[in-house]
Amino acid sequence: MADVSSQAPSETQDATEPFDARVGAGPGVVDGGADVAPDSFPRVDPVGRTVPDFPVPEVLPTHGPGRIIAMCNQKGGVGKTTTTINLGAALAEYGRRVLLVDFDPQGAASVGLGVNPHELDRTVYNLLMERGADIREVIVPTNVENLDVLPANIDLSAAEVQLVGEVARESVLARVLRPVLDDYDVILVDCQPSLGLLTVNALTAAHGVLIPLECEFFALRGVALLVETIEKVRDRLNPRLEIDGILATMFDSRTLHSREVVARVHEAFGDKLLHTVIGRTVKFPDASVAAEPITVYAPTHPGATAYRQLARELVARGDAA
Ligand SMILES: Nc1ncnc2c1ncn2[C@@H]1O[C@H](COP(=O)(O)OP(=O)(O)OP(=O)(O)O)[C@@H](O)[C@H]1O
Ligand SMILES: [Mg+2]
Repeated sequence: MADVSSQAPSETQDATEPFDARVGAGPGVVDGGADVAPDSFPRVDPVGRTVPDFPVPEVLPTHGPGRIIAMCNQKGGVGKTTTTINLGAALAEYGRRVLLVDFDPQGAASVGLGVNPHELDRTVYNLLMERGADIREVIVPTNVENLDVLPANIDLSAAEVQLVGEVARESVLARVLRPVLDDYDVILVDCQPSLGLLTVNALTAAHGVLIPLECEFFALRGVALLVETIEKVRDRLNPRLEIDGILATMFDSRTLHSREVVARVHEAFGDKLLHTVIGRTVKFPDASVAAEPITVYAPTHPGATAYRQLARELVARGDAA
């Protein structure tokens, strides 16, 4: 099948269609499962920018060291876990070795990949609290090739309190991950909705932060505090830390409102706003129930294509291998 993403915008058949139609039919925006060819990406994003060509990532001859990306927003239910799972699966499809670190006591990233963390004796919690524990014995492979998960369960909720008295309490996760950095190309950390010590640990371990923002009215509330926290961690603990991008999620092209939110994010953050936008579709919760990434559950669905586009955009930006 022709890959329209490799064509210049003027050459694409639909380039003359109105903006709405193209975005509505594109995989970056999913409203009702438009019937589109797999992996044909929109040529224009919702703020009117031309979407550059994000090529299929080249095969990596060797693997590692992993770049650590924290998925972070203290607002709940914005798509952190969905993005961790599906971006991870898309990168794994492109041959990247990916580790997902479930860093939320709810264990949603683990469950979403078919791992029942409540049956496990050892999770990321044990690695944080016990110095001698071996991370390779705790990492679990998933059904997706190249995709492993470091699971979490409710035990992790105690770590926030227990770590307070530790020496270098903010860099415990960085220490935990060090032995496997060379095994992976990308390590995605799914943070819990808070700016507490666990999230600060994720930011201290990370090279970059990806901020999912739900396209709804109060989306930007709290983002200033998040950015302030990221800047504090950069100043005091982790000078390499950068904001990789802001990802608009649950976009509904039928509402003016969704567009206004994305426009406001673009005004505030400029090119930190990624071109890729994740549309709202029930296929994501459906895939969670099936405990599969959408790229496996519904591989040709526009939601799967959108996460492939995100993977390609991050590789093209140099944020992922
Ligand atoms: N693009 C989307 N369209 C529709 N539903 C979505 C989309 N992304 C996520 N969801 C659903 O919204 C809910 C919240 O998503 P998710 O768990 O990824 O958010 P989160 O930020 O990790 O939440 P928490 O802060 O609780 O950890 C889930 O039921 C998920 O299936
Ligand atoms: Mg979550």
